[in-house]
Amino acid sequence: MITWQLWCTLLCVLWFYFLWTRRRYYKLIFQIPGPVGYPLVGTGYKMRHNEEVLLTFKHYLDKHGPSYLFWLGPLPYFITTDPQLIQDIFNSPHCINKGFVYKALEDVAGQGLFTAKEQLWSVHRKLFNPVFAHKMLLSFIPIFNAETANLLKTVDKLVDCGGHNMLPVMHGFSLDITSQTTMGSDVKYCEYIRTNKLIEAFQSLADNVTAIGISPWLLSKTVRILLGKEEEYSRAKLEIKEFLEELIDSKLAKGSEAADKNIFVNIAIDMMNRGLLTKNEVIDESITIVFAAFETTANTITYALILLAMFPEYQEKAFEEIRALFPNTGDFEVTYGDTQNMVYLDLIINESMRVLSPGPLVARQTTKEVRLSNGVVLPRGIQIAIDIFHLHRDKNLWGENAETFDPDHFLPHNMQDKHPYSFIPFTKGIRNCIGWRYGLIAIKVAMAKLLRNYKFSTSFKFEDLRFCEHVTLSLETVPLLEVQRRDY
Ligand code: HEM
Repeated sequence: MITWQLWCTLLCVLWFYFLWTRRRYYKLIFQIPGPVGYPLVGTGYKMRHNEEVLLTFKHYLDKHGPSYLFWLGPLPYFITTDPQLIQDIFNSPHCINKGFVYKALEDVAGQGLFTAKEQLWSVHRKLFNPVFAHKMLLSFIPIFNAETANLLKTVDKLVDCGGHNMLPVMHGFSLDITSQTTMGSDVKYCEYIRTNKLIEAFQSLADNVTAIGISPWLLSKTVRILLGKEEEYSRAKLEIKEFLEELIDSKLAKGSEAADKNIFVNIAIDMMNRGLLTKNEVIDESITIVFAAFETTANTITYALILLAMFPEYQEKAFEEIRALFPNTGDFEVTYGDTQNMVYLDLIINESMRVLSPGPLVARQTTKEVRLSNGVVLPRGIQIAIDIFHLHRDKNLWGENAETFDPDHFLPHNMQDKHPYSFIPFTKGIRNCIGWRYGLIAIKVAMAKLLRNYKFSTSFKFEDLRFCEHVTLSLETVPLLEVQRRDY
């Protein structure tokens, strides 16, 4: 029988083996403060649940300052909320690869843009940048308008009948626009989308990806089977892949003549026909785009509405601005020019993404040594986590009321002296969000029509919000919103 002393010795030996293979990290322990934790598990045991991730980060941030070293199992993480170091990292050609925690996303979206390694990524990013160019975005606006008209019909049914969780409504809306701009407007009528199966599959993947991110042993299929987590996960993955494969095959069968050249999948198929992409890469990229777009966009709209319901004085100001642009209630066309004139709505969307950052954490790893502007040299292979959530709430950057919702934070005179990396909801630098303009236009079209036609209220208090890391930011309790129609 193996005694506990033997187990401890074994753990220590393993731990020293890991340290030996990672000896280039040693000197960091002396250069950067942070908790060392226990052998093998490091400090990872503090984050057994999604709700604990941001709280743990906050705890160490308060204790060790804006940059610290954290051990997730045997992997050292350089965690930072320092805008200058974030700028160094996001602009370094040696910090392009995503961190280990994205392994789970890689399992789902293969080598799509979100997870692809440096070389493949730079080729694909060059191929896909034109898909998000201004001219293409303009061609999506009719889809945003048409789907927002449908959204109004859905929200109209919620008027004057108690509190509602708006998240599922916005997920439906967001999936409709992303699936149509990614796969074509005909997908809307597919059984798999109409019956919400695609949303369910994507949400199941998001749940599993988060679980794997904080419990990396779930990357092993055997462990997932043993813990009863495999069936739903692999079904969701398979369903999405089969759905996209069928879609691509049917588009290939129809030929490229009639294909709408503004739709992502048609452009990707065209690249495939020219030998630039394989069929699997087209599938991976299509999954990636929908995955990256639908939850971030839906959450941003929902959270902005929640915040406006909590702070009605700002909701009224936004309403007045939109009423001046669109005097009549009901559905109306929002043009690109209109979105540029929604100045106050801009402040609101920015402030919502500041206090409730849709992507709270992003992770990278170095492919070579990187010297940061504070003199610290990050060795090759180190994991980096950028804590966007706490960067956006840092009192040194945003002032004493950094933790409350106040759109004035984004008034030009309040922004002029800010470090350019103090606000990074889409990240910045070499590998920023490819869809940021798309996202902002879609959000503005939706919010303009919603705020023009409805007033949102809630009894939930801002200070009672509790946050979870869920790839995107999620709320432990989603405040229910009451909806009233505006008839003037
Ligand atoms: C409010 C909406 C959105 C937010 C807050 C957001 C945020 C982000 C963030 C923070 C990243 C960087 C992740 C990282 O470095 O690990 C990212 C990457 C990405 N986003 Fe977005 N996003 C939004 C909307 C969209 C939309 C609408 C699309 C597509 C239509 C999109 C497609 C992508 C893709 C493909 C990447 C990976 C880019 C690359 O690595 O080259 N996003 N997004």
